[in-house]
Amino acid sequence: MVYRVPDSFIEDLLTRLDIVDIVGRQVPLRKSGANYVACCPFHSEKTPSFAVNAQKQFYYCFGCHAHGDGIQFLIEFQGLSFIEAVETLSAELGIPIPLDANQRTEVEKESRLLQLTKLVASFYQQQLREHSAAQHAITYLKARGISGKIAKTYGLGFAPPGWHSLSKNENFTDEQIEDLKTLSLIIPDQSGNHCYDKFRNRIMFPIYDKRGRILGFGGRVFTQEEPKYLNSAESMIFNKGQELYGLYQVRAFNKTYETLIVVEGYLDVITLSQFGIHNVVATLGTALTEAHVDTLFKVTSDIVFCFDGDKAGQEALKRALHLSLEKILDGRRVRFMCLANTEDPDSLIRKIGTQRFLKKIDESIPLGEYIFKIAMEPLQLHHAEDRVKLATVLKPLLMKIPGNMFRQMLLEKLASITGIAPEQLIDKRKSNFSYNKKQVPATRALVSPAYKATALLLHRRSLVHLVHDSKEIQGIDIPGINLFCEIVNILQQNLHISQEAIVEQLKAKAIEAMEIDKMQATIKLIPEEGMEQEFIGNLNLLFRRASELLTDNLLKKAQEENLSPSEKIELKALLQKLQTMQSAVA
Ligand code: GTP
Ligand code: MN
Repeated sequence: MVYRVPDSFIEDLLTRLDIVDIVGRQVPLRKSGANYVACCPFHSEKTPSFAVNAQKQFYYCFGCHAHGDGIQFLIEFQGLSFIEAVETLSAELGIPIPLDANQRTEVEKESRLLQLTKLVASFYQQQLREHSAAQHAITYLKARGISGKIAKTYGLGFAPPGWHSLSKNENFTDEQIEDLKTLSLIIPDQSGNHCYDKFRNRIMFPIYDKRGRILGFGGRVFTQEEPKYLNSAESMIFNKGQELYGLYQVRAFNKTYETLIVVEGYLDVITLSQFGIHNVVATLGTALTEAHVDTLFKVTSDIVFCFDGDKAGQEALKRALHLSLEKILDGRRVRFMCLANTEDPDSLIRKIGTQRFLKKIDESIPLGEYIFKIAMEPLQLHHAEDRVKLATVLKPLLMKIPGNMFRQMLLEKLASITGIAPEQLIDKRKSNFSYNKKQVPATRALVSPAYKATALLLHRRSLVHLVHDSKEIQGIDIPGINLFCEIVNILQQNLHISQEAIVEQLKAKAIEAMEIDKMQATIKLIPEEGMEQEFIGNLNLLFRRASELLTDNLLKKAQEENLSPSEKIELKALLQKLQTMQSAVA
């Protein structure tokens, strides 16, 4: 549910919670000086660069710059919304969120329904163990190679064959029976006087949200009956177009993971997990939606779509491609794994085993290749007409990619395949490079790398030796850049200049000085051995921006007039350089 929580409550919550405790439950923390440190849960690394400071109630990673307070940690780590994070924490601390009467009714109903689905899930699980007819279901699961252990992990159960296992179950109160109707777990018959169970004689798959609450169920027959699956209807607690099957277990199994594999079937998720691949989710028997892609990118920046090899699966893969395009910020990666016609991930991994399956995942086709492959398949590119067609089809698609560098690279590729001059493929209405806030994940505050670099430099002056040519970055459009260049100049001339002389420089630039001052607190969290790495990281961002601006100018020029041969060479070199910088950043 979405509602507004008063700021005073958030403040109260923040003062009462302990970030070391919140983070420590998810990440093994080690005390180190004033901080606790760990390997960062937000990017993969071998030596710890993630620091938690109890005094400041703040975490910071000098590797990927993730930072924030306890609420922010839950948002980033568990992929929760702000309100979900606040709900989770307030429930843990036992301090209720202040709500008006309407909100309270809604929230109470929601939590009542969630209690009930949990109860129903346990009921189905118990039936799988105890009901006399469950043997057929168990035999079927065994025949499919599903172990008892993994069945338990995913909470599998059994809906008995009768019509009234839930609807006339005396353990439910009248209110619960009404709620079962609301959830469509029981359905009124034609007379309207009685209800019957929706799920009968089926293997039950509870659908968890990422917090582990049960939203609904999928139910599979274990005979040849139709339909193969029934799914819970949408309700106030269940929105199919948003939830991903298995996401809760992904988080339960993995403290960190980089890639998320998206498959079509519940059984694909479960089988892969049984074979040791625990970073797998599925849509809920519906086509992939934009909301799914958003949810996916909230919890990973690396997605592999691995759908069935049949025609429907291949079509679904194309849909995934189209839905992903608009979400490809630089630094995000989407890949596609094409299975042979009769295969699905479940059958494939049973055939070839975990190692070879993982190798195939590794070799899956990146979006930048897949989109060309799909578009080129029906064409005969030795015909000029077909090359034009390729450009006509692909250009508008490529223009949807928000990641500036990635889009630019693919347009270049299109130019070289079709032989059409790159200038002609460039969108004249838009500048192709911009210092675009959208490129930074929304949950990470944008701090100018110039402020950061300056703060680091003031903290440790010897870092100035790492700056080779500050002229290249002078005047670029990043806040604080000129102050940074000035301080570099001063230190390059005299490393031992008095602190006062530097402070004098800062005074003239009050706003920048304030920003840098703010940065100093964050800098203090960085372990000494990480300072240099952090400085280099920020410096690279500045130099990358300088290259982008040069490229931008050349591209603009190319739209208006022809480039000279040397400018063409320069442009090509710049684009190549940006590409390597990009892969270094990603
Ligand atoms: P198996 O066929 O037992 O291997 O299960 P699966 O989970 O691999 O199913 P499949 O690949 O055939 O289908 C993918 C997903 O689509 C399933 O997990 C269901 O969510 C959904 N689905 C499949 N068949 C039906 C159906 O008949 N009705 C509905 N509503 N959904 C279905
Ligand atoms: Mn299957």
